[in-house]
Amino acid sequence: MTEKFSKMQQQFLCCYPVNKMSWSSVKLPMDWDEQKALIAATCGHPLNERYPVRASYQEAFVKRLMQLLKDHEELHDDLFSSLTSQKCEQQCKDFAYKHYLLLQPDAHITLRESISFVNEGTTGLCTWEAALALADYLMQHSDVVKGKNIVELGAGTGLIGILLKLPVLGFDAGQILLTDGSASCVQLMRDNVALNFPETPKEAIPQCAQLRWDEVKDFPWQQYAKTDLLLAADVIYDDSQFDALLDALDHLYTSRGNCLEMLLASTVRNVDTLHKFMEQLAKREYKVTPCANVSACVSHFCRDHTAAVQIISIKR
Ligand SMILES: C[S@@+](CC[C@H](N)C(=O)[O-])C[C@H]1O[C@@H](n2cnc3c(N)ncnc32)[C@H](O)[C@@H]1O
Repeated sequence: MTEKFSKMQQQFLCCYPVNKMSWSSVKLPMDWDEQKALIAATCGHPLNERYPVRASYQEAFVKRLMQLLKDHEELHDDLFSSLTSQKCEQQCKDFAYKHYLLLQPDAHITLRESISFVNEGTTGLCTWEAALALADYLMQHSDVVKGKNIVELGAGTGLIGILLKLPVLGFDAGQILLTDGSASCVQLMRDNVALNFPETPKEAIPQCAQLRWDEVKDFPWQQYAKTDLLLAADVIYDDSQFDALLDALDHLYTSRGNCLEMLLASTVRNVDTLHKFMEQLAKREYKVTPCANVSACVSHFCRDHTAAVQIISIKR
């Protein structure tokens, strides 16, 4: 019975917007056992019991389900208990969990994330659409990361690095270094790495370090493997940071004799901002190649496929 609700389960656990969930997969009327199974697959899922999603999200989900069942004579008790179970524990907390379930192969990533988009002066404490799009792209093109030592810039919550080191996915990537300029993000990604690799030896998990783009020259690169691939998602939104980022790229490409590729995923919020960045790349003699976005039907993540995300490969 839970298989019937696998899409709803995947959406619920990563807090996909309630109004965009696959409600059409819920066939009415729902008998007692079906109601119980849907609640067990979502609010009662062991991952949610241990690491709960945002209380307000769970409440919105249960209320929407109750509305759908409004003509039913009997509502399962578990619906009512799901409405109340989280409130006391989670009130006043700025953080909650999201679980990114990959259905094939069976794997998941659990991340603690900020419940607001901006927190502690950074946008990096929650996972953005561009990171999910880049994660999807890498799932489809695992050859791009095979055997490569990878550095992610502005890595936020750490989703991509964690994905690339999940043994069941067999990416076979080399060393992964997740970096961010914000100390809060680095602490959060360290916690998220520890959460997802509780017993894995240190050498086999992503490393995390603070790296501001304007301090790239002072970073202790000698402590890490030589970089083959740079990744970044949703870092092109503030043009006051462009020079710092481009200078950092220049430094990294030059130090690797230009044998370096970067995959950059950007949500297209303001076409002019992205255009300006592209112009700067061209001025500095980088070659940009657009990469095809993964379509909704083969996507591994619940994400808003109507949001425009541009993925490019940058070489020199
Ligand atoms: C919108 S968030 C994206 C986070 C993550 N890549 C994602 O897509 O979910 C932008 C990230 O870039 C980082 N960032 C912004 N400016 C930076 C700088 N000058 N140096 C290093 N990191 C920076 C922020 O701290 C933040 O984590």
